[in-house]
Amino acid sequence: MMDRKLMQAAMEARKNAVAPFSDFKVGAALLAKNGKIYRGCNMENSAFSPTLCAERAAFAAAIADGIRDFEAIAVVGDGTDYCYPCGVCRQVMAEFCDDDFKIIVMKDDKDCVICTLGELLPHAFRLKKPNEK
Ligand code: THU
Repeated sequence: MMDRKLMQAAMEARKNAVAPFSDFKVGAALLAKNGKIYRGCNMENSAFSPTLCAERAAFAAAIADGIRDFEAIAVVGDGTDYCYPCGVCRQVMAEFCDDDFKIIVMKDDKDCVICTLGELLPHAFRLKKPNEK
């Protein structure tokens, strides 16, 4: 099933996280509507503010590949609790995704909560519909 595959890809991506400051590694796997999966991991920086979350790294990878239509994302943190996307990442998701975009909030490879962007970011601020030209 695709959810399992996505969760597995998020676990794999987490291995590449660069998190020497927080010691909190995050992996994300973004499923495009064409079936392709884009991975992301968090990438921290000595100057702190340039730190990039795993979710936004996954979106950047897909955007760079010319992809704009997305189905779902799986996110995994250090495994101690469910890793809900931060507020900034929710806003970035809202730029490209409808309220029914599926978010698989993982604790580990067999424990997750499934929700939608509309549930995590109700009344999202958008200047236009996602992907409207
Ligand atoms: N982080 C993510 O990559 N995604 C989230 O959803 C939550 C936070 C990262 C940012 C930072 O590198 C570390 O986790 C601790 O906040």
